[in-house]
Amino acid sequence: MTSTVAPKVPDGADPHDSGDPGDPRDPRGLRSGAPLLDAWLRASAAGSGDAARMSIPGHKQRPDLTGAVVAGDIPLYAGLDTVKHADAVLAEAEQRAARLWGADWCRFSVAGSTHGNQALALAVGRPGDEVVVSRTLHRSLLLGLVLAGLRPVWVRPEVDPASGLPRAVPVAAVLAALAEHPGARAVFLGDPSYVGTTGDLAGHAAAAHEAGVPLIVDAAWAAHLGFHPSFPPHALAAGADAMVTSAHKALPAWTQGALVLARTDRLDPARLDRAFEATHTTSPAGTILASIDAARELLARDGEALSGRLLAAVAAARARLAAVPGLAVLDGPDIEPGKLVVLLAGTGAHGHRVEAELIAAGMPVEMADRDTVVPIVTLADEPEHVAQFTDALVAAIERHRSTPRQPAPGLVWGLAPQVVLPPRDAFFAPHETVPADAATGRVSAELVAPYPPGVPVLAPGELVTADIVAALRAVLADGGRVAYAADPSLRTLQVVSEPVRSDPSGAARQ
Ligand SMILES: Cc1ncc(COP(=O)(O)O)c(C=O)c1O
Repeated sequence: MTSTVAPKVPDGADPHDSGDPGDPRDPRGLRSGAPLLDAWLRASAAGSGDAARMSIPGHKQRPDLTGAVVAGDIPLYAGLDTVKHADAVLAEAEQRAARLWGADWCRFSVAGSTHGNQALALAVGRPGDEVVVSRTLHRSLLLGLVLAGLRPVWVRPEVDPASGLPRAVPVAAVLAALAEHPGARAVFLGDPSYVGTTGDLAGHAAAAHEAGVPLIVDAAWAAHLGFHPSFPPHALAAGADAMVTSAHKALPAWTQGALVLARTDRLDPARLDRAFEATHTTSPAGTILASIDAARELLARDGEALSGRLLAAVAAARARLAAVPGLAVLDGPDIEPGKLVVLLAGTGAHGHRVEAELIAAGMPVEMADRDTVVPIVTLADEPEHVAQFTDALVAAIERHRSTPRQPAPGLVWGLAPQVVLPPRDAFFAPHETVPADAATGRVSAELVAPYPPGVPVLAPGELVTADIVAALRAVLADGGRVAYAADPSLRTLQVVSEPVRSDPSGAARQ
């Protein structure tokens, strides 16, 4: 994302003026309903090179040292407002977001849904407690379990045999997990999934509430849901008690901007605050926060119209792509209608080759593996750009068309890991580095995930199997990225030193 260098206030203008309706820095006049955006516009109007400023940021808004890279950066404290008052402006903006999503607690994060997931993990239960969690969770939640010392009871989505992609986690799986683990303190699910499959969140909420626990939803990709009648309701509207969503993914907000929203019938608001603050910076970027506020005001005002445009663009792209021989798209009532997921197997084209062409054409996509391409279409996309992209995609596929094949079942979606130690025990256990082949039969000390989607294939505490090592190596050999392993070549893996022991206090000992 680019930022503009803050223009100087025109001579004679009041830098505290609350808004020029024709201000090109706020083309839709959102500032009147967005207090943090208003504060950012005022602060940035004060201009650069404020030599008398004796507070951070260290760049002091000077463009002549590190240059344009710091342009637009204004902290919340002593930036958007004074150190003593900025909290109040932030709280007002967060309350507006809470109202929009029907929550009674909301915080803006400058550290993505990663931070939100970890905050929510820290907000339930005590170390050693169990929680029901989808195994297709993002790595951030798994590390949240490590931080909080929670023990996962895994539930898994069904996998569609035709595409190898996940459907939703069945409500029956959550009901069974809650029945088998009556002490579980919460249910954590991801919805929609990375590939846009959606599940019965109302059914999950009923199951969780029947067991007296909150349903917490990672909706990282779904900040736009609920703002058009053709979209499914967002997680809170479907009955969830909390959700995290990345404003920077689905909405026009700065990278890292995210919201954590909750209804506090089953969650303690003070605990939520403590958990949120525990892992958030004390110096949040006001620019990121103001962009979340602006995106929230945009959704409130124009959400339905922009969503309608997105829906039409995606529907047109799906229709165009589905008409190409051998090519398929995910579609149907259980697929988020704003998501475009392209299935290549029937064309024989390899996703990495197709992706490389798209990158060369200046049209990078979010994810590509051999059988799947996932472009992200958002409220910011004009239909003609989506159509141009679709043409480029079809042309690239045609250039790489080959013998149709069966899709490989997605490595991360069907995993049934053998858990030997709780994630926290394994994370803190003494470990050793061994050749990957010798790691088979040992307990992983590290988290290894093809990225995207960032769903761990190996998590701390899980048994390393020959199949998993082979499958991870196959991802690398096929040109995919395998992230977070201490040895990115996967020649070695880090395993828990033997003998492996679990400690109920949360730290494994030798
Ligand atoms: C399902 C899911 N949850 C959480 C995250 C983390 O989001 P962020 O990048 O905003 O920290 C991601 C990132 O891709 C994700 O896919």
